[in-house]
Order: sequence, then structure tokens, then C-alpha cells
Amino acid sequence: MILRELINEVLYQTKYMTNRVGIFGLSTMGKNLALNFVDKGVTVSVFNRTPSVTYSFLKENQHPNLVGFENLNDFISSLERPRIILLLIKSEAVEVVLNELSKLLDSEDYVVDLGNSYFLDSRDRHQRYRNKFNFVDCGISGGEEGARHGPSLVLGGSNFPAQVFDVLKLVSARFGDEFCLGYFEGDGAGHFVKMIHNAIEYAVMQSLTEIITLLFNLKEEQAEIIQKLRELEHRGMSSYLLGICINILEYDLENRILHRIVDEAGQKGTGKWCSQVSLDWGVGVPSITCAVEARQLSTYFNSLRSSPGIKVFNNSVLKPPSVEILYDVLNLCYLCFYDQALRLIAHANRNLGYKIDVSLVFKVWRAGCILAASHLNQLSQMFHNSNYLDLLSNMNLVERFSPSIQDKFRSLTHFVNCVSDSYSYAPVIFSVYNYLLGAFSNKRLGFSLIQAMRDFFGRHGVYLDGSGQLTNIEWKK
Ligand SMILES: NC(=O)c1ccc[n+]([C@@H]2O[C@H](COP(=O)([O-])OP(=O)(O)OC[C@H]3O[C@@H](n4cnc5c(N)ncnc54)[C@H](OP(=O)(O)O)[C@@H]3O)[C@@H](O)[C@H]2O)c1
Repeated sequence: MILRELINEVLYQTKYMTNRVGIFGLSTMGKNLALNFVDKGVTVSVFNRTPSVTYSFLKENQHPNLVGFENLNDFISSLERPRIILLLIKSEAVEVVLNELSKLLDSEDYVVDLGNSYFLDSRDRHQRYRNKFNFVDCGISGGEEGARHGPSLVLGGSNFPAQVFDVLKLVSARFGDEFCLGYFEGDGAGHFVKMIHNAIEYAVMQSLTEIITLLFNLKEEQAEIIQKLRELEHRGMSSYLLGICINILEYDLENRILHRIVDEAGQKGTGKWCSQVSLDWGVGVPSITCAVEARQLSTYFNSLRSSPGIKVFNNSVLKPPSVEILYDVLNLCYLCFYDQALRLIAHANRNLGYKIDVSLVFKVWRAGCILAASHLNQLSQMFHNSNYLDLLSNMNLVERFSPSIQDKFRSLTHFVNCVSDSYSYAPVIFSVYNYLLGAFSNKRLGFSLIQAMRDFFGRHGVYLDGSGQLTNIEWKK
């Protein structure tokens, strides 16, 4: 039997019914989201550019609520009006597909881009497709597991897409009886919040790696390291990422695989977008940028391993930091990552007209996403009715999130000393140390000298205390 006939046989069983949701793209995310909908009793039409993918998926997952199509027109005709099409495809392909869909859809239909698209592209798309169909940008988090059993979802757009919201509610993650699904007003705001999520994810992953790597470098027993990480969980630091670190180390204890994994890390670009935007907007996010650069540099650094260079040695007399120290370090890392991210959100609210409620952001991240962590509930409550504040600029919030910051900073200093004494690699934790010094140190930071040099060679002027006016100094007299 040729492929087309096989597909027809399996796919068109319910040709004359109309389905509630259409899923376009059947790779990891699309497949799992389709099955999630089916579990919730929703009828789903599926389509994939390469029909054999659709066929295999349907063959493995036969269900009366799941119907597949080889032809795009048939796929679209199979949907209830207004049609809701969820795109789960590579972000590079989104524009081509939207253009194709625009010829087949009506203005009341919805196309929801759930991929990791760049938020400024999505912002343009809201304008470009305005009269063709309702475009909705939507970030989906939680990877394969999230898509299958409940992702965290963040929607954007100038108008609240009520029908899409109701449909996505059926499959989203829940924290208690609250849905991890949020709408943020502004074209591209959903993809913006998703970008922020991924950027924090880079920083958290890097900081956990740096902590665990230090413990390894200080020759702490692996079982002991796992024990310390578990203690962190018990002390209120539990998070999805900490949990999977424990899983990985436990697996490694049995199977000894970590040391065989090439010491390089990949990335797909959402962290980089965040750093780029932060530079364009003049809103520094140094810890996020450090984490992005660390991954970029990992390939280069690894290529240098075989060349003779400076060899550093472990200082084996150093004691690995205690759980108390690690707790403080991780707490301050989170404080700085959120502060950096919130400053970007505040900028987008002020300058792009977004209305991103940060309390809601923390709420929808509480489950179904990679950032899920116990402290997010506390943060969402702290930011209730104080939407557009930065964290560090409000000592009240700092004291509530990170009480006795002075003592915690002492722990961080101890940790940083251990890192340098043992020649461990910890760019993100050093960035946190510097960020906190910048924010809280009562010493001068030295920028007057930078400005003096600028004035010396370029007559850019300086502000003298209390004058409020640019003044040039005659340095060379
Ligand atoms: N994987 C994750 O953990 C995860 C988590 C959150 C968000 N996301 C985002 O969700 C989206 C889907 O991710 P994924 O991992 O499931 O899939 P993916 O590997 O990013 O993309 C593969 C899908 O894109 C389709 N595609 C590629 N080029 C196309 C084109 N020119 N026209 C039409 N379709 C095209 C592929 O169709 P063919 O089979 O025909 O090649 C396939 O269905 C991506 O934007 C991704 O960044 C992924």
C-alpha cells in the first residue's frame, strides 16, 4: 500500500466531524500537546509538513478524538469555527507558515504561535496579520513532560484571546487549583515573558553547575554532594532544576557517565536574545549574559584543553562550603536573577506599552515549567499590587525575599573565596557577587574615573556633586 493510502486509511476516519483544536507541527511539543488535549476529551486535528510524521504519530496513538491530515486545506476545513490552530514548529519556519495560512483562514480564526519566536518578530506579526486572522503569541514551557501533562503557558496580544485562553486552560499545568496560564497585554508580550523565563533558566542552570562543580573540585564525595542538595530542597530551595541535578548525580553514582560527557553546552538562542535586548535597552543583565557567554565559550575552552597552558591545581586543604553557605549563595543568585529580569520587564512595560503583571508571571511559573520552584509562590504574593517594581530597588522586598542579606553576603564572599582558592570556574556567581556589591556597597565604585577619562580625551563632561550640569575640566593645564 502506498503511503498516501495508508495515511487516508488511518487519518480520515472522522472526516465529516469538526474538531475543536488544530495542531500544526508534530515534533516533541506538538505530539505531546495533542495527546494532552485528547486526554482532556478535546477533539484534535493534526498536521505536519512531512506527512509520514503524521502517519507514524497516528499509528502509534490511535484514538477517535485524534484525526490527521496530509493536506493543509483538509486540515483547516476539519476545524470548528472560529478555528484555533496551534503552531508548534521551528521559529525559523513560522513566517512562511503564517503566510500560507493567511490565504486559507478568515479574520475571526486564531493562529497561536507556541514556538520560541523572538518577541519583536511576534510584535510585527500581530500588525502584519491583523486583518487576515487573529495572531496570538504564546510561550510554552516544560519541555516534553510539560506538553504531555501540563505546560506553563504565557499568552500575549493587544486583545485578550478568550477562546484560545479557554482551550489552553484545558491542558495547562496547575498549581493547586490555579492554572499556570497567563495573558499579558501587549503584542509579543507572551513571547517576551517566555524569553525572560528561558534567560533566568540559563542563569539558574549555570549557578547550580558552579556550586556542584566547586564541591567536586574540593573533592567532596558524590553521595555527600547529593545529600547537601537534598538538604537545600528541605530548607525551601526545592525547584525543578535542583531536583534534576539530584537525579543526574544519583544516576551518575551508579553509572559513571558525567565524566564521559564532552565538557561543552549548547543553546538555542532565547538567552542570547535576552542579553541582546538588554544591551540595546541599556538594562544590564550581567548574570544572564555571563551564563549565555559561558555556554558559547564552552566549546572554545574545551578545544584548548589539549594544549599546554597554565595548569591549576586543587587546593585540597579547603573545606567544601556547608549547606548553610550554599543556601545563602543560591538565595542571592535568585535575588539577582529576578532583579535583572524584572528590570527588563519594567523597561518593556514603560517603553513598549506592555502591561506585564509580574505577580502573574511568578504565578504561572509555579508549575509546568523549567523554572518551577517553591519560592515562586512567595514571590507572586510579594508582588501582588506592586507590579512594576525592581526587586533590589525596594529594600522591603529584598528583606522579605532574602532576609539578613548582610549575613548572606558574608556567605557569598566565603564561597567566592573558595572558588578562587580552588581555581574552580564560576562566572555567574562572580557576577552575582559584583552585582550585589554594585547595588549595596557603601564604597565608591570608580565610575568617576571612567567619566574623567572620557572628559580627558573626548570632552564628554562630568557632573560635579550637586551641580546637575555637565562641566568640562581643563585636565591638561
Ligand atoms: N522541545 C522543547 O523542549 C521545547 C520547549 C519549549 C518550546 N519549544 C519550542 O516549540 C517549538 C516546537 O518545538 P519541537 O521541539 O516540538 O520541534 P522543533 O524541532 O523545534 O521543530 C520541528 C517541527 O517544525 C516543523 N517545521 C520545520 N520547518 C518547517 C517548515 N518550513 N514548514 C512547516 N513546518 C516546519 C517540522 O516539520 P517536519 O517534520 O516536516 O520537518 C516539525 O514539525 C519550537 O519553536 C521550540 O523552540 C520547544
